[in-house]
Amino acid sequence: MSDLSALKDETLAAIESAGDEAALEAVRVAALGKKGSISALLATLGKLGPDERKSRGAAINALKDAVTEALAARRAVLRKAALEFQLAREALDMTLPVRPPAVETGRIHPISQVTDEIVAIFADMGFAVAEGPDIETDDFNFTKLNFPPGHPAREMHDTFFLQPDEKGERRLLRTHTSPVQVRTMLSQKPPIRVICPGRTYRTDFDQTHTPMFHQVEGLVIDQGATLANLKWVLEEFCKAFFEVPKVGMRFRPSFFPFTSPSMEVDIQCRRSGGEIRFGEGDDWLEILGCGMVHQNVLTNCGIDPDVYQGFAWGMGIDRVAMLKYGMPDLRDLFDADLRWLDHYGFKPLDAPTLAGGLSG
Ligand code: DAH
Repeated sequence: MSDLSALKDETLAAIESAGDEAALEAVRVAALGKKGSISALLATLGKLGPDERKSRGAAINALKDAVTEALAARRAVLRKAALEFQLAREALDMTLPVRPPAVETGRIHPISQVTDEIVAIFADMGFAVAEGPDIETDDFNFTKLNFPPGHPAREMHDTFFLQPDEKGERRLLRTHTSPVQVRTMLSQKPPIRVICPGRTYRTDFDQTHTPMFHQVEGLVIDQGATLANLKWVLEEFCKAFFEVPKVGMRFRPSFFPFTSPSMEVDIQCRRSGGEIRFGEGDDWLEILGCGMVHQNVLTNCGIDPDVYQGFAWGMGIDRVAMLKYGMPDLRDLFDADLRWLDHYGFKPLDAPTLAGGLSG
């Protein structure tokens, strides 16, 4: 019987030293599995005489019972340990402060917010939003807008040019959002009523200029679109945007190749201390350029100037954002300084609507 007691010692020791349930299962299979050591012993019983079979059978069964019992005991110990380990790992310290969710701490950049405000105002007047690429052709940025090659007005736009391609065509970073007018007229039939917000680029850098800035373009093409409509649209926009019941506006004659007549628009304001107020005061502040779309532009874009006419305007988004929210230096807008964004940014759920109030 000493073979049985050796096997028993050995198997029980293996059970005891199994570190997890997988190792324990391996010990069980090695002892009690089909090809296990104890199963092999039971298979030898058939060759024994009746008396010997009885006593040896009883001894092997006792061994089997002892091993089965030890396996169950060890399994219970391992399960308990695994559970305790998991509970310890997943423990929560209920005394830690609650971290506010991203929707509370995140901030919407003022340019995004102001763009949304502008879109909300014009959407209410029935304008759709049109977009175009930042990298433009010379044709769309200049030529179709009635800047002929060599025209001095091109020099006023400090243009970033890309390397010429194989055909010698030199693309550029659009210097204004006006090429989106061209794209819209080429792809849509009048009546057209769109605004085109987006990034624009010029090689300029100081307190009021950054190489990348934002503009919003407006374009209306219809049979009866007049200068009076343009003035009304801009006045309604300014009242809604600056959230004042009335606003004084001044239209000064100006020049843009793509409009005729062309005007620059100033709004009435009062400056005191670092503050600026709209709708009152003796000061004037220039905020946009506008005019009736030039006949050449209509023709260049496939629209018959004898049937249709239209008006357009272009405004700096960064500039009106700075005016409205009192941000003194344009460069701060693009510095990616979190402290600045914390101060001037907007809560993610403060979406501007005309009904709910633009600036919350
Ligand atoms: N594109 C002009 C600029 O960047 C702004 C502008 C002026 C746009 C008059 C217009 C417009 O559509 O009619 O300086």
